[in-house]
Amino acid sequence: MNRIEKIFGILLIGDLVTYTEAIGKCPPGHFECFNGKCIKRGWFCDEGNDCEDNSDERYCNIGRPDICPIGWKKCQNEIRCIPAHWMCDNITDCQDRSDEKNCVYGECSGDFKCFNDKCIKRGRFCDNTNDCGDNSDERYCNVDSRDGCPTGWKKCLNEIQCIPAHWMCDNITDCQDQSDEKNCGNEVLRIPGVVTARLALIRWFLQRRLNSTTSKWGPQLNRIAVALHLAEDGVFALESNIRQEMTYELTIKLLNKLNNERLNAEELALYVHALLVTCVDVRDFYGRDLVKELRVKVEETRNYTNPFLMLVLCNAGDAMTVKDVEEVVAAFNSPKKIPWTDVQALATMALACLSSRQNVPVDEDVLEDMLGQLKRQQFSNGSLDNFRTTALVVQALLIHHSYKTNFDLTSAIKILMNSQEMESSLLNAYYVLPVLSNKSLLNVTSAHCPRETKTGNIIFKAF
Ligand SMILES: *[C@@H]1O[C@H](CO)[C@@H](O)[C@H](O)[C@H]1NC(C)=O
Ligand SMILES: *[C@@H]1O[C@H](CO)[C@@H](O)[C@H](O)[C@H]1NC(C)=O
Ligand SMILES: *[C@@H]1O[C@H](CO)[C@@H](O)[C@H](O)[C@H]1NC(C)=O
Ligand SMILES: *[C@@H]1O[C@H](CO)[C@@H](O)[C@H](O)[C@H]1NC(C)=O
Ligand SMILES: *[C@@H]1O[C@H](CO)[C@@H](O)[C@H](O)[C@H]1NC(C)=O
Ligand SMILES: *[C@@H]1O[C@H](CO)[C@@H](O)[C@H](O)[C@H]1NC(C)=O
Ligand SMILES: *[C@@H]1O[C@H](CO)[C@@H](O)[C@H](O)[C@H]1NC(C)=O
Repeated sequence: MNRIEKIFGILLIGDLVTYTEAIGKCPPGHFECFNGKCIKRGWFCDEGNDCEDNSDERYCNIGRPDICPIGWKKCQNEIRCIPAHWMCDNITDCQDRSDEKNCVYGECSGDFKCFNDKCIKRGRFCDNTNDCGDNSDERYCNVDSRDGCPTGWKKCLNEIQCIPAHWMCDNITDCQDQSDEKNCGNEVLRIPGVVTARLALIRWFLQRRLNSTTSKWGPQLNRIAVALHLAEDGVFALESNIRQEMTYELTIKLLNKLNNERLNAEELALYVHALLVTCVDVRDFYGRDLVKELRVKVEETRNYTNPFLMLVLCNAGDAMTVKDVEEVVAAFNSPKKIPWTDVQALATMALACLSSRQNVPVDEDVLEDMLGQLKRQQFSNGSLDNFRTTALVVQALLIHHSYKTNFDLTSAIKILMNSQEMESSLLNAYYVLPVLSNKSLLNVTSAHCPRETKTGNIIFKAF
């Protein structure tokens, strides 16, 4: 068990959800040895120990009472075992050819093969009808989240449905939550342990919900909303109760603060981010233009510009200027601000946002140079200074696939997953959840919100 699983005390059984194993490790036409080596299928049972652990020869000539390894089947003559998925695949593997006898070819290709070998159309899988006759098409559609799946099957992200493993990432949606076709090209999620750690962290956030009628999400709600949105799980979908509850609570809290106290720039910026992800109109929040107010606060402190504020203004769609670019670059180069590397990572993200604007010219070499400087701060164990810095820098490096050269993404993410600091603060969790979801603070926008036709306070009416 890795650290995060222990910390959150979540029961995780065996191979929960991993996309890594979704597709067999060996290419088609190969046999996968028990030691993981791939050999040509023609070398199976050819009396040469090609695997070097003899697993390709061990079950070719067994005694009748002997049993086959899990996931294998005995030929009819009962003296040879072959991998079960070699049955009825139109290639003869048993000496007596029994593996290709009584097969119905074609019909099952792409369709569902019942446990009794009947073939049914894929659309009939999990349709509440026992089409197989042995119920194998309906049996794993709604399992206990702690139960495992049959051999060769995989769990969907919702943890209650199992589908045949080779249906993962095959461009046909099979999971009710569509997770089998999501994140197929996502290298972060393929790092072993990330899928599980991410789910555990999402649950950890959801457990922050308090039993209180006035404030269910506490003072850190703006960060919680952003983190859950970036995790992009069903929990924070537009129609979800949690999102609506958060929208309501954010609105009440902010109205209260705006009327009773002077918000500092950073606090206002955190609210703007949270309102963007919850689809509340930041330009007309009960008559107030919060982006404009944030801009005024930023201008007031012109000595030093906090790049996080610049990132928020840019994410919120404010008009950005050449002066903003200069100040972000200056912040990157101003070592007086501690913790400096965190500031640099935020400045890099802010500059990346600025560079996407047509009217402000950003020298791509400057951005590249910043990314290079961040990478050079990685230690050989994968970390960059402390836990939070590591998370922020990885967020910045997700720009333009920058992590791909001169940076060890896997080690950095492993440090984040195994860190003892995860339990200590919500702030740490807020920085790391986006990383485990291949997202960064650059991805905070209202682009996912339904557009409104008439002007009103709230783009998406939540309550
Ligand atoms: C099975 O293999 C034979 C010979 O290789 C080929 O002619 C035939 O089309 C194959 N049948 C199917 C359904 O793939
Ligand atoms: C995936 O399916 C869609 C629609 O069925 C099709 O347009 C697209 O080309 C497919 N993509 C791949 C990579 O096969
Ligand atoms: C992150 O997601 C983007 C698509 O939004 C994809 O192009 C990129 O390869 C992913 N990066 C990693 C590290 O998985
Ligand atoms: C929440 O508080 C109410 C009233 O104090 C109590 O009756 C209820 O059991 C609490 N629920 C939980 C889940 O703690
Ligand atoms: C801004 O800079 C001026 C002069 O350099 C200095 O006197 C002032 O204290 C600074 N203000 C802040 C808020 O740092
Ligand atoms: C990684 O190495 C650095 C520098 O040697 C050290 O300060 C840090 O504590 C290490 N981090 C972990 C998680 O081992
Ligand atoms: C997140 O932001 C990065 C950098 O701007 C971008 O490349 C990536 O496509 C975004 N991901 C999503 C899912 O929007």
